[in-house]
Amino acid sequence: MEFPKDFIWGTATSAHQTEGNNTNCDWWKWEVEKDGKRDLPLEPSGQACDSYNRYIEDFELCKQMNNNAVRLSIEWARIEPRRGTFDTKALDHYRKVLKSAQEKGLKTFVTFHHFTNPTWLAEMGGWLNFKTPKLFSIFAKKSAEYLGEYCDTITTINEPQVYAAMSYLSGTWPPNKKSLLLCLIVQINMIRGHNMAYKKIKSVTDKPVGVVKNISWYEYSNYTVLDKLAAKILYFLNSDFFLKPVSKYLDFIGLNYYFTNRIVKLKIKNPDIPVNDLGWWINYDGLYKVLVSLKKYDLPIFITENGLADSNDSQRTEFIKKMLTQVHAALSRGIKVKGYFHWSLLDNYEWHHGFWPRFGLVEVDRTDTLKRTPRKSFYDYAEICKNGIVK
Ligand code: FCB
Repeated sequence: MEFPKDFIWGTATSAHQTEGNNTNCDWWKWEVEKDGKRDLPLEPSGQACDSYNRYIEDFELCKQMNNNAVRLSIEWARIEPRRGTFDTKALDHYRKVLKSAQEKGLKTFVTFHHFTNPTWLAEMGGWLNFKTPKLFSIFAKKSAEYLGEYCDTITTINEPQVYAAMSYLSGTWPPNKKSLLLCLIVQINMIRGHNMAYKKIKSVTDKPVGVVKNISWYEYSNYTVLDKLAAKILYFLNSDFFLKPVSKYLDFIGLNYYFTNRIVKLKIKNPDIPVNDLGWWINYDGLYKVLVSLKKYDLPIFITENGLADSNDSQRTEFIKKMLTQVHAALSRGIKVKGYFHWSLLDNYEWHHGFWPRFGLVEVDRTDTLKRTPRKSFYDYAEICKNGIVK
């Protein structure tokens, strides 16, 4: 299977999960204030992978893997530590980071919001506050002004609906609310935040700007028409409900695909095999179906995340190849898939789970040194990226 010559091959990470000591954000506060009354998070992010200091080494690994791009995020809490105060040192740091990636021949796909918020914003009510979209767009404009030159593409918000659901519906992530209404308000504010940020970013740079959406496919059993209806409604809520209102302000769609859900008698009941270490059902053709459903937007699509927790690396290579087979099928059908980023370059801080889920093509030794050791799948992915051919 041959991929187009200009296909983008990369890996993805995010700031809080890899940089370390991201002390000024809501997640950090939640991690260190754990008082014994709650189980989560299983551990704090601490120094994470220390990528704040080791980014050159990390980009070297991307190069070794024959990648031509890298996806990463910048941290709002570092750049705007107090409302309206922008830290030029932090901006300079990211300028150095992005420049060094580009100097290694890696195109930079830069995300401006990946789950974490500055503490001051969280204290104002975070994304429940109707002023937040505007505040986000001010931060986005400032960052684009300062860093735009070193961003090949920009994405505003990572997985807005996952954020809304985990933080305001299931209550798993800070601020641990469980309310359908609050979850809805956050989604609306994120739609507004994206649209406002898009316009502001575009006023200072002509780089392509998109959003990153996690979209799961929904299958249904053949038993009842209700299952079919439920699957269709859930898929709509998970995709077009967010994408339609932002579609005028998108130069591309970033798609994160991890799994499919199967509805059986109005409940999600997924098969037990194959699954990854987190129990997520591995389903390949769901990716194809999601891609087909995005065709109507007629926008370029980048797969901005796809990967699995697989500590002994026994499934990763097959997973990548089979997912890429789906991407190839979508390409043959005329769907404009422009690139693939594997999640993740490194084992990193998997949010409330802590560090045990191992998503990295590169193993990170957590004992003390944070030494990076490429897994076998790293070399297999490198082979694919080298010529854009999957065998
Ligand atoms: C996605 C997140 C990313 C990572 C992967 C496993 O939902 O965007 O930060 O945690 O899942």
